[in-house]
Amino acid sequence: MSNDIEVLNFGSLNIDHVYHVSHFVRPQETLAVGGYRKFAGGKGLNQSVALARAGLRVAHAGKCGTDGAFLADTLREAGVDVRFLLRSGGPTGHACIQVDSSGQNAILVAPGANQEITGREVDETLAGIPAGTLLLLQNEINDIPLLMRNAARKGLRIALNPAPCGPEVADYPLELCDFLFVNEVEAAQLTGLAVSDPGLLLDGLVRRCPRSEVILTLGADGAWCASEGRRFYREAFPVRVVDTTCAGDTFIGYFLAARLHGASVETAMRTASRAGAMTVSRAGAAVSIPALAEVMAEP
Ligand code: RIB
Repeated sequence: MSNDIEVLNFGSLNIDHVYHVSHFVRPQETLAVGGYRKFAGGKGLNQSVALARAGLRVAHAGKCGTDGAFLADTLREAGVDVRFLLRSGGPTGHACIQVDSSGQNAILVAPGANQEITGREVDETLAGIPAGTLLLLQNEINDIPLLMRNAARKGLRIALNPAPCGPEVADYPLELCDFLFVNEVEAAQLTGLAVSDPGLLLDGLVRRCPRSEVILTLGADGAWCASEGRRFYREAFPVRVVDTTCAGDTFIGYFLAARLHGASVETAMRTASRAGAMTVSRAGAAVSIPALAEVMAEP
């Protein structure tokens, strides 16, 4: 029975190898790291944890290898339904993340099992999901267009965060989206506009996804949302930056949870910005995502 979930997140699971460095390694340089830690991550897993911590009933579908058992544990402990998790005999996806002394990051992702999802697994996973459920997708797994088209045919709603954004995203059926989350670089790629003006980027994105709520995140410069012909802006909460990893994923989880539970766009953006800022003040990916009570306790 899948009719108890509000969101099915078909997304990546990564083992994050995090290296603390004085600066990002340069060509031909060998750099000694100041610290190393291993975390549960992946844009998919992070967003599922954020959705669950924000109070939504979420199931995570995605694929990991035998070395990824602790990722399933992380999801389970966060309250995410893992009945749709798929197993691979190969390695789990992993990320190599440099975090510099200002908390900025540079990330390499090796897809591993995330890119081994078959059409049959897509069909079987979506089979029992009732119309109206939200399907959340990022761009770290294969078969995104197939997932979007099958989901739309079944009457699911679709939220897409096309990150990391390769050239293939231009051919995705973006017109099927109900929610689209992009940063400035992704927005420029998707619209073909060589501009940084948020208004022009939003105009271009709305033309691509006319019935979608479009959210443009700008990191420390806040976030914009285009919804039903209106524009909303939310400035970022000031915070001491420790590690920006997962800030976008936290924003997405909290924004969707608020909107699905009936909050206004303004309230959703405020809550999501607050949660994202709290994530930035902590190290790691999924482990840095705050619980709803913590977010709501902040003034
Ligand atoms: O958005 C942050 C995530 O991007 C990391 O957890 C890493 O796994 C990469 O997917």
